[in-house]
Amino acid sequence: MPTRVCAEDELELGEAFKVIIDGVPVALVKDSAGNCFALGDTCSHGDISLSEGFVEGDEIECWAHGGKFELATGAPRALPVSDPVPVYPLTIVDGDVYVDVT
Ligand code: FES
Repeated sequence: MPTRVCAEDELELGEAFKVIIDGVPVALVKDSAGNCFALGDTCSHGDISLSEGFVEGDEIECWAHGGKFELATGAPRALPVSDPVPVYPLTIVDGDVYVDVT
């Protein structure tokens, strides 16, 4: 069931921020082109919050060791990460952002 997490205009271009949805840590990301994504916030390489990392193009980079993930799929893009992070369906309805972590 989708949960409303914020208004779309609260997401800043090229930034990520962490929310907890039904106990699940999620990184909400708006890339520099304005596309929005919801990924698991915990890096697959360690207990690090991805939302504290860097959004670059279609990727987010973990600050700890430089591992990168594709925003759209959560797929690993750069070592040392080799496992993906989950991605969650994100919809925008009437200016509000909804994410489904179920
Ligand atoms: Fe994220 Fe190592 S903890 S790359």
